[in-house]
Amino acid sequence: MIIRRLDELRALVTGWKRSGEVVGVVPTMGALHAGHLSLVSGAKAGADRVIVTIFVNPRQFNNPDDLANYPRTEFEDAKKLEPYGVDVIYVPDPDQIYPQGFATTVTVEGLTDILCGAFRPGHFDGVTTVVPKLFLQTGADRAWFGEKDYQQLQVVRRMARDLDIPIEVVGCETVREADGLALSSRNLLLSDEARAVAPTLSRIMRDMAGALGQGGSMAELTPGAITALTDAGFDKVEYLELRAADGLALLDTADRSARLLAAAWIGGVRLIDNIPV
Ligand code: PAF
Repeated sequence: MIIRRLDELRALVTGWKRSGEVVGVVPTMGALHAGHLSLVSGAKAGADRVIVTIFVNPRQFNNPDDLANYPRTEFEDAKKLEPYGVDVIYVPDPDQIYPQGFATTVTVEGLTDILCGAFRPGHFDGVTTVVPKLFLQTGADRAWFGEKDYQQLQVVRRMARDLDIPIEVVGCETVREADGLALSSRNLLLSDEARAVAPTLSRIMRDMAGALGQGGSMAELTPGAITALTDAGFDKVEYLELRAADGLALLDTADRSARLLAAAWIGGVRLIDNIPV
């Protein structure tokens, strides 16, 4: 069932909650792929009722062209969700999220100044403004997010904790193509040529993670990795950093549970990826 108005959604969720059912939400911007569907499977297993939200949130796009080009595939998305038997697909009309006169921005400090936050000003403010609205509108007890957007997952967890939103945020492993490319709605924008080169990012990151696991340092490994990426056809590497898995402190060696994270441009498309070290 597709619902577009908050009052309708609330009426339904109120009934579920009265019956003591656990409500799960999978927030998305649509253009669903197997990565999203793995979150939906997780939610089906971990909640009595599942709501998938689809809302292309204008406030998290720092680049107007990126917003204009973002794939919008509601009909196909609904078809993909059919086999999962979700209870509601919530596709809020824009005024249900940002009514006339909307004047609030939620900012998580610190965690958002680094990595993607340093290159996409305002992006995480957009995320941390819309996500609590989706949490509160759906009244969900649990929410599923992909580790593909690892920084987003950490930021959303911090936001929910800081604002005392009673929700459990569940992170799920990145789903990849057979050649290693992390699934992303943006992969649809890659030309054939760029698509052929794109998996180099995860391959080089895997090699680096292996070397870091053997005691290697970012200072030694990063220059060669960046050259290999640009030689392969990437236009620019925005960042390639090792960070503590919890709290995202910058590391040179994997002296604790860590994450290697990267963002790079190819053929006008920005790809991000991360792997545990
Ligand atoms: O990861 C996404 O698709 C978006 O950032 C989210 C969490 C749905 C918020 O708009």
